[in-house]
Formats: sequence, C-alpha cells, structure tokens
Amino acid sequence: MLYIGVDLGTSAVKLLLMDGEGKIRNIVSKEYPLYFPHPGWSEQKPEDWYEQVMAGIKELIKDADKSQVAGISFGGQMHGLVILDKDDNVIRPAILWNDGRTTEECDYLNNVIGKDKLSQYTANISFTGFTAPKVLWVKNKEPENFAKIEKIMLPKDYIAYKLSGVHCTDVSDASGMLLFDVKNRCWSKEMCEICGVKEEQLAKIYESYETVGTVLPEIAKELGIPESCKVVAGAGDNAAAAVGTGTVGDGMCNISLGTSGTIFISSEKFGVDKNNALHAFAHADGHYHLMGCMLSAASCNKWWMDEIIRTKDYPAEQKGITKLGENHVFFLPYLMGERSPHNNPNARGTFIGMTMDTTREDMTQAVLEGVAFALRDSLEVARSLGIDIKRTKICGGGAKSPLWKKMIANIMNLKVDVIESEEGPALGGAMLAAVANGEFASVEDAAAKIVKVVDTVEPDPALVAKYEEKYQQFKEIYPACKPLFDIITK
Ligand code: XUL
Repeated sequence: MLYIGVDLGTSAVKLLLMDGEGKIRNIVSKEYPLYFPHPGWSEQKPEDWYEQVMAGIKELIKDADKSQVAGISFGGQMHGLVILDKDDNVIRPAILWNDGRTTEECDYLNNVIGKDKLSQYTANISFTGFTAPKVLWVKNKEPENFAKIEKIMLPKDYIAYKLSGVHCTDVSDASGMLLFDVKNRCWSKEMCEICGVKEEQLAKIYESYETVGTVLPEIAKELGIPESCKVVAGAGDNAAAAVGTGTVGDGMCNISLGTSGTIFISSEKFGVDKNNALHAFAHADGHYHLMGCMLSAASCNKWWMDEIIRTKDYPAEQKGITKLGENHVFFLPYLMGERSPHNNPNARGTFIGMTMDTTREDMTQAVLEGVAFALRDSLEVARSLGIDIKRTKICGGGAKSPLWKKMIANIMNLKVDVIESEEGPALGGAMLAAVANGEFASVEDAAAKIVKVVDTVEPDPALVAKYEEKYQQFKEIYPACKPLFDIITK
C-alpha cells in the first residue's frame, strides 16, 4: 500500500509518498505566497494551500500505482486561524502562527483573565501566534467577520475537510489553539466562553493516528485514487516532524530548523513548566511533549542570503566560515518578534559587535550562531526543569547544512543524530496514515521500524567551552535591547 504525507508549511507544501515498509518513493514541493499586510502581520490564503496540495498530489503519484494509495495524513503549520461561513467559504485570509497583531488580546488573556487560569484550563499561556487571541482579535476588530463564523479551523484541518468533508482536528494541533484542555485532551469550556466561541464551531478531536473518514468521491475521481483511501487526522508540523524523526516515547529530543525553529521534547507524562515559557502540548504518539518555538530560524539565514547579500548559493557562503567560537559579531534572530522564551512581539533582529575588520563571513556566521544561541535559550528552560537532554535529532531545511549542525552540537552541547531523511513532517504524516491503516502496531512501532540514524555530530569539548563563553555574552544582549525594542516599535 502507499501513503501520502502532506507537510503544509509556511513557504511551501511538501508532499511525500511512502510505501508500507516506510520506503520513500517520491517527494514534491509546491510554493504559495505569504503576505505581510502590515509590519508583524502574516497571512496566507487557504484556497492557495488547497490548490497546491491538489496539484502536488497529482504530481506526486503521477507514476505510481494509484489504486494502492490507502491513506493521506498531515503535518501542518500550527496555530493559524481559518474561518469559514455557513456556505463553507473562507471568510478572510488565514492569520498565521508568526503573526504578531494580537498584543492587546494577549494582554487581556494573560493579565485580565490571568496566566494562572489560562494554564489551569489549557496548560499554556497566551502568545500572539496562538489561535484564541486571533479569534478575539477578529471579534474586536472585524465584528462583521466574527458574526459570520460557522467553523473555526487550523490550516491542515482545512485541507482534511476539503478532502474528506469531515470537520476534524487532532490533539497536537488543537493544543496550540489555547482553547484546548491539553491534559484531558478535550475542548476547554472555560476558554470557549472567554473567547465567545461555541463548541459547535470547533472541530471534532481525534488522536493523530486516527482515521477521520475517506476521501470524497469527487476527490477520489480527480486524483484517480480509490474512494476507500483514508484521511487520517495528522498532527501539527512539530509533532509530525517528531514522528518522522523518531522523537516519540519518553525523553527524546528533536530540533527543527525550518521557517520557525523548535526544540521538541517528548514525554510519556503530562507536565507543565511553571513559567509556561515552553509550550505543554499533546503529542501525536498518544502522549505529551514540551516545546520551545522561535519564530525565525532558517528564515533568518534565508533573509540574510536572499534579501541582504543576494545569493542563492548558501553552501558557498558557509565555506569561508572556519573560526568557530571566535566570532565577535552577534545576531539576535528576532525578525518576526520572538515567542520562546521571551514572548515579545516587539523584539527585533539585531547585529551587534562589528568592527572595521568584520567580514561578510563573520556576519553570516553570526546569523547561524544567533539562531543556535536562541534555541539554547529554550533548552536551558528545559534543563532548569530537571530534564536531562544529551542528544537530539534534527530536521528541516537548515539541517542540510553540516556547519549549522556542528554549531548546534557545540553551542547546545548535544550529540546531534542525523537521520536518513530530513523530511520530518511529511514523513511523519505518511507514517501516521500507515499506522491508521494497520501497517504498524503504533506510532512508536512505526518510528522504531522506519527511522534510521545515519550519522552523529559529536560536540567537541574545546569548542563547547569557547561557545559557552559566547553564549553567556549572547544572553546579555536581549535584556539590554528590550527597552529599545519597545521604543522603536511604538
Ligand atoms: C509552533 C509554531 C511553528 C509552526 C511552523 O508552535 O508556531 O513551529 O508550527 O509551521
């Protein structure tokens, strides 16, 4: 049998075809536009996602035996607000995970309702990118749109709905809405009331590996696949990436260097960090996880390469970087504000420390190191909770760079296990579809049989020591700049 994994990302959708043994048969990627209608806002059109998913699936299975396609599932960009009216029309463009417009709504939730209550109801506090403050923003700023809302959806669930006709979501993605009681894996009545949401407007909740339905007859016909092809709930992209990298069960770690950067720690038990600096979410394997999320990771390097120094040859730019641990230039990677651990939409990208002998290589190095230092900020929160992480998997576009992996290993003092395929969320999505179809006994079983570590980047003690000193300096920069960020973003 064949399984399709759909990774509905921010810059593109990646589609992956996997067979029942876990072998990857094909990968296709299709881009769509991202809109920044105001500084700090970030939107996409759900119709673009759907169009490119359909085009992508057609291309993906062009040369495959279509009668064998038995399941489709997803890893999707999290937290995005998709709203539909009574005729299933999209009411307004989706407001994405890296959108910072909801500062006022977050203040209301965190300070008027109060962080303690939010944490008690949902295991999390409000961040500007989360879904509930966006619902409140639509209620406050676009009441005519709010009045039309029939269904509230997350990005990948819009695709599942178009394919199956079922209004569904999964526990991992629902966790990022701030409307979900993570511990008990159900909608929070209290949060629905606070946000003026009726439970009927929210989707039916599934575990990530559960089947929500089959493809609609017209979809089966258009794609040339059987009507029995299952649509499986899937997961938020980070939980799906964790499945695709074998970060399941207890105490495993995955770092994703995509548009966002995340550090994901799987856990068999529910647990919350008392300051809620890390997200406490349900995992796609039936358990839980903690996660730190930075809003700009590989996107910082992309910005620096594409927009500033204007090159497409990323490896060539990294070739000249040889003096690791000795850079005097630092970069704060907060190009879209920052989520974990600072929770500050006003934070901004910042270079500091240049002198007349600073080179282009030093600046590029600072960008890559800045992302690794900022990820370490979240790792330190996990370490302060007594979580002992010694090694991590890695995935996402940035994981293709050997230099960046070396920086991560030494800045974070972690062994970095490199796996055969870096296609985290798309592979995880296909694996969830295969589990739902009975190819594997569980998500953990699928991970054990499919995911293979092919190399490990070991930290070098001398370099770890040099980077430790640099990290201690890096840590001083954000607090010093914070008051300035408030002034310059006024
Ligand atoms: C996670 C988050 C991002 C998006 C990226 O909380 O906001 O990682 O899921 O697609």
